Amino acid sequence: MEKQTIRDVQVQGKRVIVRVDFNVPLDRATGGVADDTRIRAALPTIHYLREQGARVVLCSHLGRPDGRVTEDLRLAPVASRLEHLLGGPVAATRECVGPEVERAVAGLKPGEVLLLENLRFHPEEEANDPAFARALAGLADLYVNDAFGTAHRAHASTAGIAAYLPAVAGFLMEKEVRFLGQALQRPERPFAAILGGAKVSDKIKLVENLLARVDTLIIGGGMANAFLKAQGLEVGVSRLEEGAVAQARAILDKARQHGLSLLLPTDGVIAERFEEGAAHKTVPASEVPVGWMILDIGPATREAFATAILGSKIVVWNGPMGVFEWPAFAEGTRAVARALAQCRGTTIVGGGETAQAVASLGLADKMTHVSTGGGAALEFLEGRELPGVAALCDK
Ligand code: 3PG
Repeated sequence: MEKQTIRDVQVQGKRVIVRVDFNVPLDRATGGVADDTRIRAALPTIHYLREQGARVVLCSHLGRPDGRVTEDLRLAPVASRLEHLLGGPVAATRECVGPEVERAVAGLKPGEVLLLENLRFHPEEEANDPAFARALAGLADLYVNDAFGTAHRAHASTAGIAAYLPAVAGFLMEKEVRFLGQALQRPERPFAAILGGAKVSDKIKLVENLLARVDTLIIGGGMANAFLKAQGLEVGVSRLEEGAVAQARAILDKARQHGLSLLLPTDGVIAERFEEGAAHKTVPASEVPVGWMILDIGPATREAFATAILGSKIVVWNGPMGVFEWPAFAEGTRAVARALAQCRGTTIVGGGETAQAVASLGLADKMTHVSTGGGAALEFLEGRELPGVAALCDK
């Protein structure tokens, strides 16, 4: 990584403020943490800092409280989960700046951990307010950003604070940038990208950035409908966004110019309605009847996609192949996840719902890297500079 990391600086005895992304799903019924993947992902940095004798001040946002104190978005459930994972106490404050916090930080001994309250209870966080950034910086001697999932936001705790403290990356941030960067900058060949999800517009910048880099581009999910239509096929009442077909046509032209292999569905699982229990059947992509919609890729497509994945040295996957939350339309996403799990090359899964799909299939540990960033991974792979990374000190 071209940025400094916690290995490059002296942390012993220092007060270290660590921006983590503890924006985790909560269980509505119990209020507890429903999925602690992001908390676990930050543990290597926290363990290291404790072992080195740093005084660790963690800060994060949770949800989108829009600058107001919101009781069910307090970080208390995260603090208890972290205590459980660390096997030791985690002090927590009910504020993230101010006298209560200053007292708590002053009382921290080397190796102790404090978690500040949700940063987004203050509108100044998202506004990247300099006074707020300075108040956070005033709590520490060093700033560590380990919140890759929030690195696409230019907020006070992800970007502004770096103006007031030496700023370095944590281990998670380093790992994310290394794997995602490897795919973009030094891919082994053949390099395949498999993209899905509902909308072409969500992925257009990603496709444009990948077109010049990949050997094979595989497109499934709802966004594939626009490509089928652009090739003159009928997609029944499948959802199509305004302008998507023209965008797909332009991508098809560019793929042709780059001479890359572009794989699209050749068959699909179709339904009469957008409903979990809707009657469904499998048809060739050229035979979608009027009034039906495509909700998953079919078996021939799954096989073709899997063959391309298995023959690649590096594969990047972002976006499900169908409505994977509904069992009848989950097989395409499952088949792609299985193919990545079997692939001998490097396999990188973009975060968000793709990571959820892989986790729900129990295949996360079969991937080389599953990103903890949804929007951040997408923006990184689009080739954009992330403010949270840009703000860190160069090596
Ligand atoms: C995420 O979950 O993608 C990050 O935590 C960022 O959250 P945000 O989209 O609310 O900024």
